[in-house]
Amino acid sequence: MPESLLLKSRHGAVLQITVNRPDKLNALNAATLDALDAAFADAADDDAIRVVVLTGAGPKAFVAGADIAEMNALTPVQGRDFSLRGQRMMRRVEKMPKPVIAMVNGFALGGGLELAMCCHLRIAADSARMGQPEINLGLIPGFGGTQRLLRLAGRSATMELCLVGAPIDARRALELGIVNRVVPAEALETETLALATQLANSAPLAMRGIIDCLNVGGACGIEEALEYETAQFGLMFSTQDMREGTTAFLERRKPGFQGA
Ligand code: COA
Repeated sequence: MPESLLLKSRHGAVLQITVNRPDKLNALNAATLDALDAAFADAADDDAIRVVVLTGAGPKAFVAGADIAEMNALTPVQGRDFSLRGQRMMRRVEKMPKPVIAMVNGFALGGGLELAMCCHLRIAADSARMGQPEINLGLIPGFGGTQRLLRLAGRSATMELCLVGAPIDARRALELGIVNRVVPAEALETETLALATQLANSAPLAMRGIIDCLNVGGACGIEEALEYETAQFGLMFSTQDMREGTTAFLERRKPGFQGA
């Protein structure tokens, strides 16, 4: 019986998904891309899950990239399909109706950084190293890396990371806005789960509205983006959570959000 490509564990309303190919530094082959796609589709549909944490198995890597051994033999058409497969899965993650936090526990290179970047938040161990080294393989990022890095870190840093291909450390990634937080490696899991639990107790429909606004707004002009935000804002007034949140404030108590 082969080892499962993904491990799943629950911490209350937080689902942790762990890419489980530690002997290959969790490299993303086609089967792992498909397993992630299915796992995120399930997590999207499960109302009991309010937050997803994504990480890699073992002490060394989050994900060290797309599987180079698998890519080595691909034809151009298969290469295009491999890119589409990764892009489809990562777009699903980006459009998840609940927050996804990348817990970057080591190397996040190539497809690994691309995977982290499609998540809504990234917490990195101070020992993590990140980069887009595809250039060293005669390749370019193919799972959305050129575009998501551009949007996170700007044109100058993206050009350098992709053209030079050298990895950066977690502190530099923080300076560039690629990660949200850097914590000591030994505190990574505790800190990430604390943030995930905080979000799990927050208002699910409002979090979904925020994610949708950023996704839609990132893909259209300011006028349409603002109109979309207004529509989402108005929609919140139909939720019990909005009544509960505002009433709890006025009554000087903690709100209890139901996602309704
Ligand atoms: N695809 C397939 N296998 C990979 C891989 C990848 N992206 N990254 C690492 N591995 C495999 C190695 O081939 C090795 O397998 P083996 O033990 O069967 O030979 C195993 O994972 C351990 O990696 P290794 O290179 O021995 O570890 P290291 O500590 O010496 O180096 C890295 C770590 C991350 C610097 C190095 O593995 C690396 O450069 N990986 C590729 C990164 C990359 O280019 N990613 C972008 C791909 S598009």
